[in-house]
Amino acid sequence: MLLVITNKFDLACDFFILRLKERSIPFLRLNTEDYGNSFQINISLAGYDASYEINFADGRLVTNADIKAVYFRQPVSPDAPHDLAESDKEFSRREAREILRSLWRLINHGKWFNHPKELWLASNKIEQLTIAQRLGFKIPDTCVSMSELTVRNFIESHEGQVVCKAVKHGFLRQGLDVQIATTQRVGSEFLNQFGNYAQVPMIFQEEIHKAFDVRVTVVGDNVFATAIHSQQHPQTIVDWRLLDLQEFDIEHEAIKMPAHLDELCKQITRYFNLKYSAIDLIKTVQGEYFFLELNPNGEWAWIEQKTGYPIRDAIIDCLRV
Ligand SMILES: Nc1ncnc2c1ncn2[C@@H]1O[C@H](COP(=O)(O)OP(=O)(O)OP(=O)(O)O)[C@@H](O)[C@H]1O
Ligand SMILES: [Mg+2]
Repeated sequence: MLLVITNKFDLACDFFILRLKERSIPFLRLNTEDYGNSFQINISLAGYDASYEINFADGRLVTNADIKAVYFRQPVSPDAPHDLAESDKEFSRREAREILRSLWRLINHGKWFNHPKELWLASNKIEQLTIAQRLGFKIPDTCVSMSELTVRNFIESHEGQVVCKAVKHGFLRQGLDVQIATTQRVGSEFLNQFGNYAQVPMIFQEEIHKAFDVRVTVVGDNVFATAIHSQQHPQTIVDWRLLDLQEFDIEHEAIKMPAHLDELCKQITRYFNLKYSAIDLIKTVQGEYFFLELNPNGEWAWIEQKTGYPIRDAIIDCLRV
């Protein structure tokens, strides 16, 4: 049986499960916020090995032997019991999170797509850029700082052609509500108001002039490249994501990249011990590709919907269920 670890609001997971049902693949969905309500975890350390069972409120029981593979999507922190005092809720959530992390560690590493430890290790943008460059990708000149002098020098050395963006990521989620700190051009106005911005460090990058954005979805040995035609609308030239969230219809197109870029995308995915990654690239008007970042657990459902790439099938095949 395939265990799908996620949360109740994960629409991509609904889409994935639809395909599992069409292919009659047995699965179990674990919405982690429900721990303590719709399921319990019992871990026993008697004897030589640790063992565990997941008990569902409807009577189902899952043990190690039942789990063939795990698809780790978007788990969230378990809800704290409503009747706890506010001061105890954080303690309750933290303890519950730790039990979940313990369970993850008891499930054999080879069964995961992808293991949370690998996801975490792969998630640092600065390391990604360093490795990408080392492997042979082009990357934009980059500076990470909250020092006015450093930022000013960087902007001047690129003649004002600079964007800034979040170091970790720009998405802020609360349930179904998503807000986003978009990539911004930084000019003289930004420098004049530097004190208002510089409460947090940011990534500053030379602005690469795009023909289009590229989203590469790597699943095992499959490389699905999609052009996102962000330069067709003035509102999406700098950052296409905000309008995409508002269901602004940006043209997406399945494309073929030069073979060495497919290979680089697989290489960086393997470098981080991942079976999956969603890589953001820019293709320039001159036909060059620049690496921006690797999302180790990035979204893919909209790419399948817009291009018809068989991403769900590729994931299922990779899970070997
Ligand atoms: N150096 C750059 N030059 C031009 N555009 C860029 C540059 N960096 C990012 N962008 C644009 O900003 C948008 C988001 O890019 P990117 O994925 O790098 O941002 P991010 O903040 O790191 O994303 P996330 O929130 O997914 O981590 C895209 O539209 C991309 O083309
Ligand atoms: Mg991105």
